[in-house]
Amino acid sequence: RTPVIAIDGPAAAGKTTVSKAISDKLGIGYVESGRTYRLVAYHAIREHVPLTDEHALTALCHRMLSSSPIALYQTDAATARALRSPSVTRAVSVVAKLPGIRTAITDLTRKIVEHIGPAIVEGRDIGTAVFPNATTKIFLSATAEVRAKRRNRQEPDRGYAEILADINRRDELDRDRQHSPMTPAPDATQIDTTGLTVDEVISKVEAQCRL
Ligand code: CDP
Repeated sequence: RTPVIAIDGPAAAGKTTVSKAISDKLGIGYVESGRTYRLVAYHAIREHVPLTDEHALTALCHRMLSSSPIALYQTDAATARALRSPSVTRAVSVVAKLPGIRTAITDLTRKIVEHIGPAIVEGRDIGTAVFPNATTKIFLSATAEVRAKRRNRQEPDRGYAEILADINRRDELDRDRQHSPMTPAPDATQIDTTGLTVDEVISKVEAQCRL
């Protein structure tokens, strides 16, 4: 089976920064599952699909993923920015609660890894649901306040208080699910990044990585 390094954890815990650095260092692929959830939310907003209409949202997701799944990863810069906009960020955890959407994105994520080979895959449920046999499992955490501060440095236009409220709301929604993706896999290495620098987190994660 293809070696997979699973990086899970809550919003703004540093998953993306760390995953990209490790993917460069080890010369393996990088897959951001949250991006696919954001794409579904983005298209739902654009096509005026109500976030309460589970049937229509699931149909939209299937339509998107059946056309050209790999092409979903090759969006232009404007779409990439829109994926991180406050409206998509507000909608994404609602969309991500729907079981039909989780199943479709789980299948897609597995297919992408089959296609690209050994990879570091980041998300909420990678070590639990998507790749329960991952070679390495890491769960990154930090206090909500520290995570909001970090996100505020990336997005200075949004205020700290708004970002903190968004993170708390998303933690709540992401936690409140039957197979909660916010629960670390029992065999994951948990790293509390609250007092650590990015480089310290990268070294700690790298020391755990087995391919
Ligand atoms: O980067 P950030 O942590 O803010 O978010 P993201 O990784 O882009 O994920 C956005 C949202 O997608 C999360 O808040 C979850 O609701 C959802 N998600 C999920 O449910 N399962 C995943 N494997 C990845 C993301």
